[in-house]
Amino acid sequence: KSVVILISGRGSNMQAILEAGLPVAAVISNNPAAEGLMFAQTRGIPTQVIDHRTFPDRKAFDAALAETIDTYQPDLVVLAGFMRILSEAFVDHYQGRLVNIHPSLLPAFPGLDTHTRALQEGVKIHGCTVHFVTSQLDHGPIIAQAAIPVLTDDTPTMLATRVLAQEHRIYPQAVRWFLQGQLTLVENRVEIKTTSD
Ligand code: GRF
Repeated sequence: KSVVILISGRGSNMQAILEAGLPVAAVISNNPAAEGLMFAQTRGIPTQVIDHRTFPDRKAFDAALAETIDTYQPDLVVLAGFMRILSEAFVDHYQGRLVNIHPSLLPAFPGLDTHTRALQEGVKIHGCTVHFVTSQLDHGPIIAQAAIPVLTDDTPTMLATRVLAQEHRIYPQAVRWFLQGQLTLVENRVEIKTTSD
């Protein structure tokens, strides 16, 4: 069994998944300058760049992306800071085997700048969510969440740092569950069978 990870930048979630010893067949980035590509290469993981700017439209980019992913025949496709919206055709193709991590407690704060918005709203609890991807941005059946308290003097950066530490914990865990057959999507509902972890 294996996963393919899609990144656009830093790739710290990708790194956490690699460091958890999970089987990563390839790392693919839409951004040739993504910092995470270097780390994957130092670990001997095949990397590919599919630069969205070289395609006429989203449909053509998504088709090329899917074609490349499918050459690795992964069991699961893992979005890890992948900053492109994916078309319905792409999402449908990976129904039940495409996951994302989002830096908020969904359904609160879909979209960008989640930590700034959480502070502006004055929420006392914030966190991150692993979910199956559907064609609605940052929605989709929830697999795992981790919550942290928001502190009085928090800045978006401080909050991001503490949430990220939780991302690095729950994302490898969710990927492991999936690869061990403990996590499935059954008609838009998440089923998890955990043992004693
Ligand atoms: C993470 O906060 C993730 O939740 C969001 O984008 C960020 C990616 O960070 N989707 P990294 O590239 O994994 O370091």
